[in-house]
Amino acid sequence: MSASVRIALAPGDGIGPEIMNACLRVFDAAGVLQHLEFVEVEVGQRVFAKGDTRGITDEATATIEDTGLVYKGPMGTPIGGGGKSINVTLRKMYGAFANIRHFQALPGVETLYSKAGVPVDFYVIRENLEDTYGGIEHRLTNDVIECKRLISAPGCDQVHRAAFALADRLGIALVHCGHKANIMKMTDGLFLERFHKAGENYPGIQRADVIVDALCMNLVLRPQQFRMVVLPNLQGDIVSDLAAGLVGGLGFAPSANIGNHVSIFEAVHGTAPDIAGRGVANPTSLLMSGLMLLRHVGLLKQAAIINNALLATLESGVRTADFGDRSREPVGTTAFADAIIANLGKQSTTHAIPVPKGDSPFFIRRPKPHHHTLIQTFEQTKSVHVGCDIYIETTLNPQEIAVRLQGLSEHTPFKLTMISNRGTQVWPTGSVYTEVVDYVRARFELRDMNRAASLGQGPAIHMLGRIAEKFAICDFQPLQYFDGVPGFSLAQGQ
Ligand code: NAI
Repeated sequence: MSASVRIALAPGDGIGPEIMNACLRVFDAAGVLQHLEFVEVEVGQRVFAKGDTRGITDEATATIEDTGLVYKGPMGTPIGGGGKSINVTLRKMYGAFANIRHFQALPGVETLYSKAGVPVDFYVIRENLEDTYGGIEHRLTNDVIECKRLISAPGCDQVHRAAFALADRLGIALVHCGHKANIMKMTDGLFLERFHKAGENYPGIQRADVIVDALCMNLVLRPQQFRMVVLPNLQGDIVSDLAAGLVGGLGFAPSANIGNHVSIFEAVHGTAPDIAGRGVANPTSLLMSGLMLLRHVGLLKQAAIINNALLATLESGVRTADFGDRSREPVGTTAFADAIIANLGKQSTTHAIPVPKGDSPFFIRRPKPHHHTLIQTFEQTKSVHVGCDIYIETTLNPQEIAVRLQGLSEHTPFKLTMISNRGTQVWPTGSVYTEVVDYVRARFELRDMNRAASLGQGPAIHMLGRIAEKFAICDFQPLQYFDGVPGFSLAQGQ
């Protein structure tokens, strides 16, 4: 049979080529390569070394866009200089919005939980594109640097829909949303609200929410109570590494980054420079990520056969140096792959996976977009301007700042209502115990709210100009109501 699905193959840096080679050998032995064509692309350190700060060649970009699928090994990020993480760049450039990681106890991989007989088997779905990972950072003053945390309604919808669709497919009856909406009421509040909205389409799936710090504790105490947790980007990043620790480490956690047009399947660990080139790396994470790829393109039978062979191999005690029974001699990467190949057709006694029938791949591509696709959730809200927050660099004390700003805003539609420092109100009330830095927020609100509908943003910008003549402006944020609801938070203590 001729190959029918093409996949861009990026072996990666460090141990990447060694473990990728092992995985491809297993795929070949299982007959997968009759159905898939892997096209090698140049991405990562080799490209950075040529002075290309994108870390990806034009040919690689074209191949990835053509195939819509990437199987990649770990890639090093240059430390310092202009080069950004190519791993993050790929996910963001191609809109791979949902990071799916499966954490499951494996036979032969001893952990505190396996010894205690506590079952661990759950998914973490991490929003992949937004949050602080926008990397929008600015130095605002001598002492203060900001990182903008953006959470969008359509971004939330994409990841929540993907999570519920996967839960539905896997027969998972309970999905948690992890968040910090008790503190970040608007951003994480939106993430949580959209979680419940997306879940309404799945009445058979129970929804629960959990604050991320409590989630971490409960994952350690009782991991068996979780089946799937959806999280914003940064929280998801941290929780998924914690989760990897429950199942024996990063070497056993597969990962898929799912998007509308391009999906990327990769190991979660890095390039392991300390062992690169020695032929001792563990290919399990990359192989399991490859199994997610096979299932994604419909090769369910082959995925189950390889999965069973991997589990049987782990159960038999064959191990690489990073895990397992230390009284047994470890094997190298190649011998580990050989053992899996020898076990094709066998099953683990404790973790057997049913092998479905049918071995034809299917992969339906959406048409290539010809421009950036606008994704929108709320299209018809009515917003009115009611004031602004103006951020200034100053070392004056709050009382003095207030007097000056009141003077500068005297003949405007706005009155100074609050000054805060690092989010805590310091004027008109506050505590002298609140230490302050050189970055100050001054909130101005309309003297007459009846004028809100007619004012627009012009008067606030005009006032900003006046204040800028006396103070160094670091930032400006309009205050708006959306459908009558304030689109801004209060300061701590306000
Ligand atoms: P790392 O995951 O490469 O290594 C951490 C430790 O785990 C090392 O002791 C390493 O030997 C061990 N290890 C990792 N994978 C292993 C495997 N398959 N078999 C046996 N032992 C393994 O993390 P580190 O050192 O922080 O990062 C090294 C480089 O990898 C950096 O340039 C980093 O940016 C990059 N990285 C890339 C990722 C990706 O491509 N998705 C993810 C994480 C890091």
